[in-house]
Order: sequence, then C-alpha cells, then structure tokens
Amino acid sequence: MIREAPLVTEPYHWLMGGAAYYAQRAPLKWIPRWAEDYGDVYTIGSRLGSATVVADPELARQVLVEKYKRYLEKGRSYAVLRILMGNGLVTSAGEFWRGQRKLTQPAFHRRRLDAIFAMMVERSRAYAARFGGDGAVDVAPMFSQLTLEIISRAMFSTDVESEAAEVSRHITTLNETALRMLRQPWRFLLPRKFPTPLTAREFHARQDMDRIVHGIIARRRKGDDSHDDLLGMFLSACDEETGRGMSDEQLRDEVMTIFVAGHETTANAMCWVLHLVSTHPEVAEKLHAEIDAAGDALDRGDLGAFPYTRQVIEESLRMFPTIWSVGRRCVEDDELGGFRIKAGTTLLIPIFHFHSSPRWWDRPEKFDPDRFLPDRRPGPEIYFPFGAGPRTCIGNHFALQELIIMTTAFLKRLRVLPDPGFKVEPDALITLRPKDGMMLRFEPR
Ligand code: HEM
Repeated sequence: MIREAPLVTEPYHWLMGGAAYYAQRAPLKWIPRWAEDYGDVYTIGSRLGSATVVADPELARQVLVEKYKRYLEKGRSYAVLRILMGNGLVTSAGEFWRGQRKLTQPAFHRRRLDAIFAMMVERSRAYAARFGGDGAVDVAPMFSQLTLEIISRAMFSTDVESEAAEVSRHITTLNETALRMLRQPWRFLLPRKFPTPLTAREFHARQDMDRIVHGIIARRRKGDDSHDDLLGMFLSACDEETGRGMSDEQLRDEVMTIFVAGHETTANAMCWVLHLVSTHPEVAEKLHAEIDAAGDALDRGDLGAFPYTRQVIEESLRMFPTIWSVGRRCVEDDELGGFRIKAGTTLLIPIFHFHSSPRWWDRPEKFDPDRFLPDRRPGPEIYFPFGAGPRTCIGNHFALQELIIMTTAFLKRLRVLPDPGFKVEPDALITLRPKDGMMLRFEPR
C-alpha cells in the first residue's frame, strides 16, 4: 500500500509553523535524528513550504540516477543560488539544462585540466610561501582568495588580472548576500527589489560583475586570437545539431556559475583537509613522507605520485562534504519505497548523512584515510561528495586536481598545527564551512 511520508512534529517552531526551522538551523543534528524517529523518508514543514527528506541510499539513487527525469528540477533552496549564478548549469532545469551541459562539458575534459596544471601549482606555491612561524592564521579567507585566483585564471587566462581585486570583492559580496538570505528566510517574503542595505550592496556588486564579465566577452568576440581557457571553450562551443552557440547572457550566467560553484566548495574542502591533518600527526607524517618521496612530481604534472594524499582528501570529503545536501523537485507523481511523492514535492538528499551514519560505516567519527585504499573503497550509494547521476559535479576532476596540488604545495614547505584555543564548528548553509573560520598554525619544515 502506498503511504504518505510522515510529517515531523517534534520539535515544532510556533512562529515558522513546523520543524523546518530546526532543519535550517542545525541540519547535521536533526536530519539523522529524525531518520531514526520517523524512518528514512519523512517530511519537514513550515509556513513557507515543506520538503521531503530521502535518507535511504537506494531511494536517493533512484531520485538522482535511475528516475532522474522525474526529479530533474532543482529544489526551492536553489532560488538563492539564482541570485549569484543566474540561469546557469547549477540552477537551470529540463531541456535547457541538457543543452547547456552538452555545450560546457568539453571545457572540463582531462586534456583541459593538464593545460591549467602548472598554473595551479604556481599559484599554490606562491600562497604557501607566505606562511611559516607567524602565529595562527585564519586559512578560510586565504583559501577563498587562492581558489578564486585559480578559477579566474582558468576562466579568463590573464584577461581579468587588472580587475582581479574587484571581481574578488564582488563575488564575496554576492556570496554574503546569499548567506544572509538563507540565514534570514523572511527576506524571501520581500519583493526582490525592496530596498534594504543588503539588496543595495547586492545590486551594485551584480551590476559591476556584469560590466566586467560582459566587457571581457565583448573584447573576446571582437578579437581574432583564440584563448586556451574555459571562456575560450565556452565561446567556441556550439551544438552539433543546431549549430547554435551561447548568447552573451547565457555566457555570463555560466561564467558566474563556474566562478561561484568552483571556488567556495574547494576553499572549504581545503580548510577541512588541513584541519584534519593538523589534528592527526600520524596522517601528517605519512603525507610528508609521500610528498618528499615524490620529488619533482608536481613539476612533471604527475598526480599519480600522491595516492595517499588523494585518500586523505577523499576521507576529508566524506567527513565534511562541502556540498552537504542536494535538492530536487518532483515533476511527475511517483512512489519511493512505498511512499507517495506528488508532482511539485521538494526533496532533500542529505549527502552528509550517507557519509556519516554508523548504519553504513564502521566508527564514522574516526578520520581514517585507509577507507579509500583501492580494495576497500566505499560504494557510490553511500559516498558521493560530487553528487550522482546526470547532474553530477562537472568540476569534480578539476576540484580533485586542485585539492591535491594545494595540499602537496603547502605540506611540502610547511607543517600544519592546530591553534589550541580555537574551537572548530561546522556550519551547513550553502556549503559546509567552518563557522568562525579556521585558525591554524604553520611552521616551516
Ligand atoms: C570539493 C569541491 C566540490 C564539491 C564537493 C562539489 C560538489 C558538487 C555537487 C554535490 C554537485 C551536484 C549538485 C546537485 O546534484 O544538485 C555539483 C554540481 C556542480 N558543480 Fe561542483 N563541487 C566541487 C567543485 C566544483 C568545481 C571546482 C567546479 C567548477 C570548476 C564545479 C562546478 C559545478 C557545476 C557547474 C555543477 C552543476 C552541474 C549540473 O547540474 O550539470 N564544482 N558539485
């Protein structure tokens, strides 16, 4: 018999009219607890709407992979991302998304990643050279800056050099706006153009970013020389069947999408990697040994020399998946595990829960990179930091390459140690980030 998913009634927030308030405030605590109390499919509600959580690995795979066509639209929370990204790969849906994915995919081919390898190494080394022995530093803004520099150069080569500081400031403002919107959901009730200091700052940042990005696109369209970068690939991409390429507006949205999706995620992942390394000296020692033994592998573009580093990064993404959940909207009535899912239902797939429940992992709280030894790797139904199915992360190889390069460049020169007085706390908003930054100490090796 097909049943309705149970509605979470405890705890109940009287003002928001349901439990959704708690899911927003502390999802890492409540989502697993409700799965225990209500089962693997349950609904959380509020006056602003409801979402059904799918906390069973097999059913989550059905949503993302097998039945993805029924769940092709993104969830409501992606409205915030639209502020940042417009209608790009992350936020778009249906046939439009499919066409865009086809056009942009070649830009992320392995050969393209080889072309930016040396740039990633050079930037990471330049940043690593700034540290060592000066007391504790907050690495969160530093990695945000470094990953933004990397994605800017991957996107525009050196075209953006003179505007780099401006781009960085605007992206930071737009990120902050989106975070404030998520923290204060009542802002969604205001008309988009309602004048508040926040909307004014967002408006100016967006206007300036549009000017910069459209300026570069216009210069590129006019010039004869081809550029070996992501924008160059996007500009020359055209659909084989229709012969159509991207409009300037579409290019702008994809550029912003890659900027936003491609730097905060990796920056936060890097914070968690170094946090875990700093608190596990035995892992740090093995990493240092591997990096020393690899000699000039980074200069030769040989990531195969760092298998243990990769395991450390994969385990870190298990414990702290920087995209901690994904959302979908059901477009056609369905049934999942005996529960009715009506068209229009918003679903939430809690990646972090699959990565950390003792139901599927032995001592999940333990940082153990050996879980990712070739003969022990976890299955894709319980480990998918880059998502699953056709909408899986387009930048996953880019991100892994970047994370391995940054980790090895830093640990080649530096020993990383915790800051004893600092309390690390994860904050699950758009990305899973360290709430008050990540204070760490670096010592030269
Ligand atoms: C550690 C770093 C990263 C993590 C954990 C991550 C994770 C994810 C996840 C889970 C999704 C799927 C979202 C969904 O199903 O709704 C996704 C999508 C996406 N990611 Fe990443 N990502 C990372 C880095 C990057 C980078 C470096 C780029 C670009 C250079 C990128 C670009 C994208 C794009 C464009 C999408 C949308 C794909 C589509 O819907 O077709 N990501 N990412």
